[in-house]
Amino acid sequence: MPAHILVFDSGIGGTTVLGHIQRSIPYAQYSYFMDNELLPYGAQTQQTIINRLSALIRYIEHKKLNVDLIVIACNTASTSALSAVRLITNIPIVGVVPAIKPAAQLTQSNKIGLLATPATIASEYTKELIRTHASCAHVSLLSSVELVTIAENFFFTDELKIEKLHKELVRLNISPEIDVLVLGCTHFPILADAINEFLNKQVKLLDSGQAIANRVYDLLLNTDKLTVTASATKKPLHFYATAYTSDNVLSTQDIITQIDLTQYVQS
Ligand code: DGL
Repeated sequence: MPAHILVFDSGIGGTTVLGHIQRSIPYAQYSYFMDNELLPYGAQTQQTIINRLSALIRYIEHKKLNVDLIVIACNTASTSALSAVRLITNIPIVGVVPAIKPAAQLTQSNKIGLLATPATIASEYTKELIRTHASCAHVSLLSSVELVTIAENFFFTDELKIEKLHKELVRLNISPEIDVLVLGCTHFPILADAINEFLNKQVKLLDSGQAIANRVYDLLLNTDKLTVTASATKKPLHFYATAYTSDNVLSTQDIITQIDLTQYVQS
C-alpha cells in the first residue's frame, strides 16, 4: 500500500507544500485538509489553534482515515501547536516552520526579513528559531494578514489584486538592506513572483516547501510505503474543507468533502 499523506492548512496555502511533496512522491495517496472556517489562523489565539488541530486528529481517528503521516503545511499552526498535537497522536507529524536557518546561512549582508502572520511572528517557537539559528543576523519581523487574503483570492480567481498587494508591501516598509526574505507563511509562495518584482529581484525569497518534501521522503524511506508496483495509478486528491470552497480549481478527478469540525472540538 502506498503512503497516505494528509496535508493540513487553514486555507489553500498548504498546496504550495503539497506540490513539492507530490513531485517527490507521485504515487502516494494524498488528502488535503483546510480549516477555512477559521481562516485566517494568523489572527487566532494559540489555544484556538491547538483546539482545532486536536479536533482534526480526533476526526482522522474517528473516520479511520489510515493516515501514515501528517504535514502541518501552515507555519502559524506549526509554531503554535506542533508540540501539543504530537502529544495526542502516534501518527508522525512534520511541521512547516519559517526557513530561518537556511536564510541565516545564505545572507551576505546579515540582514534578513521574516514575512509571516502575526501569530507566527508573536510565537515563542519563532523567537527560539531566531535565537538558535540567526543570532548573528538582524531579522526584521514583518507581519501581515492581508497577504493571506490576497493569496487566497488569487488562487481561486486567477486574478491578482496588484494594487492591494503593493499597498500592503508598502505598508510593511521592507528594509532595502535585507538580501534574504523568508516567506514564513505557506500562502506567500503563491505571491512570490509579484513580491519578487516589487523588490526589483534584489532579494532572495526563501520558503520551506522543498525541505519539507525531502523530510517526508526520508521519513517514509524506512517503511514499505514508498514501494510502487507496476500497476500503480495516481490516486485522486481528496480535499476536506470546514467551510464552503469553490471547486473550480480542482482537477476533475479530485474529491471535495465539506465537514463540520466543531463537533470534534473539546474546549
Ligand atoms: N498558511 C498559513 C501559514 O503558513 C497561514 C494562513 C492564515 O493566517 O490562516 O502560516
